[in-house]
Amino acid sequence: MLRIRPVHLQSCWRSTLARTYSVVSPKYPPTIEILGEYHPTDEVTNITPAIISKIPLRLHKHPAHPLCTLRSLIESHYPDFSSITPPSPLVTPFKNFDELSFPKDHPGRTVTDSYYINKDLMLRTHTSAHEVEVFRDQQTKWLLTADVYRRDEIDGSHYPVFHQMEGARLFDANLSGMKEVEEDSERLEQRLLRSNIIIQDIPHISPTNPVQPEHDPVYAEAMTRNLKLSLNSLILKLFGAQQQQEPLRVRWIEAYFPFTSPSFEVEVFFGGKWLELLGCGVVVQSTLDASGVQNKIGWAFGLGLERIAMVLYSIPDIRLFWSADPRFMSQFKPGEITPFKTYSKYPSCFKDVSFWTAHGTELHENDFCDLVRDVAGDLVEDVKRIDRFVHPKTQRTSLCYRINYRSMDRSLSNEEANVVQQQVISRLQNDFGVEIR
Ligand code: PHE
Repeated sequence: MLRIRPVHLQSCWRSTLARTYSVVSPKYPPTIEILGEYHPTDEVTNITPAIISKIPLRLHKHPAHPLCTLRSLIESHYPDFSSITPPSPLVTPFKNFDELSFPKDHPGRTVTDSYYINKDLMLRTHTSAHEVEVFRDQQTKWLLTADVYRRDEIDGSHYPVFHQMEGARLFDANLSGMKEVEEDSERLEQRLLRSNIIIQDIPHISPTNPVQPEHDPVYAEAMTRNLKLSLNSLILKLFGAQQQQEPLRVRWIEAYFPFTSPSFEVEVFFGGKWLELLGCGVVVQSTLDASGVQNKIGWAFGLGLERIAMVLYSIPDIRLFWSADPRFMSQFKPGEITPFKTYSKYPSCFKDVSFWTAHGTELHENDFCDLVRDVAGDLVEDVKRIDRFVHPKTQRTSLCYRINYRSMDRSLSNEEANVVQQQVISRLQNDFGVEIR
């Protein structure tokens, strides 16, 4: 998510142009309760009850859940790392962005891309939001797993809540620290050399992916090598067993994150496609300074658990992770990765809605999707914009959306879908002043 390049771990940032048109005006009570605490709302509040209802679920803590098994598998690869689960997804924008050197105008900060409770409190958009706090706690080898929240479109691979795992390791920035890195790298390299893996690498450091001015280039090289070896071994552990005859193919790509340099993304070739797995890099000095950590250098990575679990378990739709249908959870045992057996889907029901937006306004797609999700919850499978035009005389915008309603655990009647659709229409009229066509 957190970079300016077009692809990211979950989806693309939309254009700045689209963002500037958002109109967010649903009526909120003066306070909202989240995890038993009340928080004031204000003019930026955009969190919805549908999102709030996901916060206590913590899928990554349910032993048989695929996300939990994957988490344990990754933790077993780093046996001497501490395992952290932050208690709440509420963070300040300072912690989510500023403390990690995000520029003031970064698109991730906008209300169309992130969920705000009020201007001083938001739902974390990535697990990196906890880096400073964990480093401050003097942790030098850690893995942190948490639910993260981003406003997004609705379809089979995008869901506004997903799970990330952040890992980091710090070494002493001196000769004995470097000896420790080299020994660890040597051990990892020897193991990888004996494995059936092809790694498409790029230089550790380059003019476009520079060493930080505060760092000794030799140390930065050693860090990057260790980071790459550590992640290549993790990827081999996760995907190697499934690959059988063919060698596992991994490729490294230059990336940009405000809180690492040099920075990378890693992709794995699986099922005939390159799959983006994670972002990583050498931790920026200002993060360690903010944490009060001195004379250390280290790396961090952040990976999306759903992406990987969907591939390892052959789970075709990201919404299934949230399914209450016993046919989903009964398939899984703690600690075992077994292919998901599809069960028949219940029939879907398409409903269209066309409307003129209120005079002089646009309606951001994320505002539309959140409204639908708020009314319909997980009954909505897919939302597509099928038409948009601006009337040449009045300059008003007309939009048409097609909503695909489908329950994951029962048959939805057309009457029931109509009731939900009617609620969507009323909310569109009340919250956004649209005129139904
Ligand atoms: N937080 C980044 C994201 O969500 C991933 C990342 C983590 C990148 C740690 C570098 C270091 O996209």
